[in-house]
Amino acid sequence: MAKSPSVATNAAEEMTAFCGQNSLGQDVERILVPEHSIQDRIRGLGQQIDEHYLGKDLLLISVLKGSVLFLADLMRAISIPHEVDFLATSSYGASTNSSGVVRILKDLNEPIEGRHVILVEDIIDSGHTLAYLTRLFRHRNPASLEIVTLLDKPSRREVDIDLFWTGFSVPNEFVVGYGLDYNQKYRNLPYIGVLKPEVYQFTSD
Ligand code: IMP
Ligand code: MG
Repeated sequence: MAKSPSVATNAAEEMTAFCGQNSLGQDVERILVPEHSIQDRIRGLGQQIDEHYLGKDLLLISVLKGSVLFLADLMRAISIPHEVDFLATSSYGASTNSSGVVRILKDLNEPIEGRHVILVEDIIDSGHTLAYLTRLFRHRNPASLEIVTLLDKPSRREVDIDLFWTGFSVPNEFVVGYGLDYNQKYRNLPYIGVLKPEVYQFTSD
């Protein structure tokens, strides 16, 4: 398994640029992973996936909605033929904590039996979502089942997850951008940033 690089701590230029032009950026305390680092890392992941799955029937499964930007860029970083499918699980709503309860809102369109499957996730936090999904999919008898996540928050883990590829390890802070949301907003920020606590501290749930 590849080691994940640590996140950039100083991205002041990018911060200034986006906070000036984009009102969503004003709710961001600091940038954890700038746009160019995300793209560099995804290119590397794409090459590793190319080598690992050469000649195999590869299916990428995106867990909606947080992983769609990652999926779109990862697909273009992978040069071998592959297909995609989508799955939706229940979200946290307006909370920043996982309930540990996972509900399937939209199942896959196609069977995965005999196929080489990679689950594409935005972030692994407690691990409950992925623990549930891997159990569910193993019962459907794929040829192989691995996980690629853009972000990993290892300090929050409540259940063990076997991560095959990780983009970046991040500290225990609530992050948004590049597909990740708070209350369905901030997904369109091009970087990963830490949300200012005052944005969510008055939300109950
Ligand atoms: P888990 O089940 O606790 O591992 O949580 C997985 C899901 O929670 C992720 O796929 C995200 O959708 C969401 N999530 C966890 N941490 C964050 C965060 O810091 N920002 C945005 N979404 C998060
Ligand atoms: Mg997710």
